[in-house]
Amino acid sequence: MTVARFVHRYNSLRSLVDRRLASVVANDEPRDLMEGSRYVLIAAGKRVRSTLVLLSCRAVGGPIANAIDAAVAIEMLHNFTLVHDDVMDNAPSRRGHATVHMKWDVNNAILVGDVILGLAYRNLLRSKTRNIQRAAKLFTNALIDVCEGQGFDVAFESRRSIHLPDYFRMIGKKTGKLIATAAELGAVLGNGTPPQVRSLRAFGTHIGRAFQIQDDLLDVVADESDFGKQIGGDILEGKKTFLLVQALEQTRGKDRATLRGLRRKTKRSSRNKRDVVEAVTAIYRRCGAIESARRHVKRETAAGLRALNGLPASESRTMLQWLARMLVQRTS
Ligand code: IPE
Ligand code: IPE
Ligand code: MG
Ligand code: MG
Ligand code: MG
Repeated sequence: MTVARFVHRYNSLRSLVDRRLASVVANDEPRDLMEGSRYVLIAAGKRVRSTLVLLSCRAVGGPIANAIDAAVAIEMLHNFTLVHDDVMDNAPSRRGHATVHMKWDVNNAILVGDVILGLAYRNLLRSKTRNIQRAAKLFTNALIDVCEGQGFDVAFESRRSIHLPDYFRMIGKKTGKLIATAAELGAVLGNGTPPQVRSLRAFGTHIGRAFQIQDDLLDVVADESDFGKQIGGDILEGKKTFLLVQALEQTRGKDRATLRGLRRKTKRSSRNKRDVVEAVTAIYRRCGAIESARRHVKRETAAGLRALNGLPASESRTMLQWLARMLVQRTS
């Protein structure tokens, strides 16, 4: 595998999904709902989860045709979660554009999310498979877990002490489960053997964990124009990210008091916001939270790669290995 080959293959799977997503919303009315839905589905996402479905299906020897509807459905489920997540997180931008609740309003964001979820099920149920019940069950369980994980995410904002096991349970549900399900669903639709399905689920579980820790890290270290989201958004919302959880355990005195103060939701001027983000970022660097996050991302990725040993060697398995490594290096 070469970088050029990886990029070429990733892009061709992504454009397969992009084309489907662009044509999912067929109605013109009600206008705000349909325009908002189209706006979300054509925005340039990385399409990690749909690519995982397709590659996992190929990695167990199944044809792309078996998995494409589910791949599109998983991507839509993900997009539904993002629209509602941005409301919950007060996020102004995503993928370099205004979020739906900012461009329209919260009501439209609720409805856009809901309709995308409905359309996601419609796509999933079109899958050409004798395993549709199993696929629908996996998909539904992932949806329920995302909601529970998001519930923990919000509840943790106002909890004083969150420890790493709490954090891992929360991200396992809000992010890890959907990524693990993407890999598992691809394997099921490709008619993989039970050990192959287990290997891919384990792969997804580990890289899903790495993915959210990396996302927490990027909130602090990314370049805003690459990232496409507001830098420091998690800090301003008092989110119990990997960095905050670690830093709360590793600081004392004034630094710790600053971090504890993040729980208090106060109206801040934009100058004050910048100062808070800068001060907290400096604490994260000083106490080693940033380095610790990087180490955890690497460790989880390595565990994910080991899980792939359970699959026969193939170009798609190699693509999955490259994908996992690419995610560690991502800047958005
Ligand atoms: C963002 O997911 C939400 C998280 C789970 C961190 P992505 O980083 O995959 O977002 P897009 O789809 O590429 O925009
Ligand atoms: C992602 O958590 C979880 C879901 C979207 C379900 P974040 O809130 O960190 O995701 P971003 O950073 O807004 O993409
Ligand atoms: Mg968010
Ligand atoms: Mg969130
Ligand atoms: Mg985030």
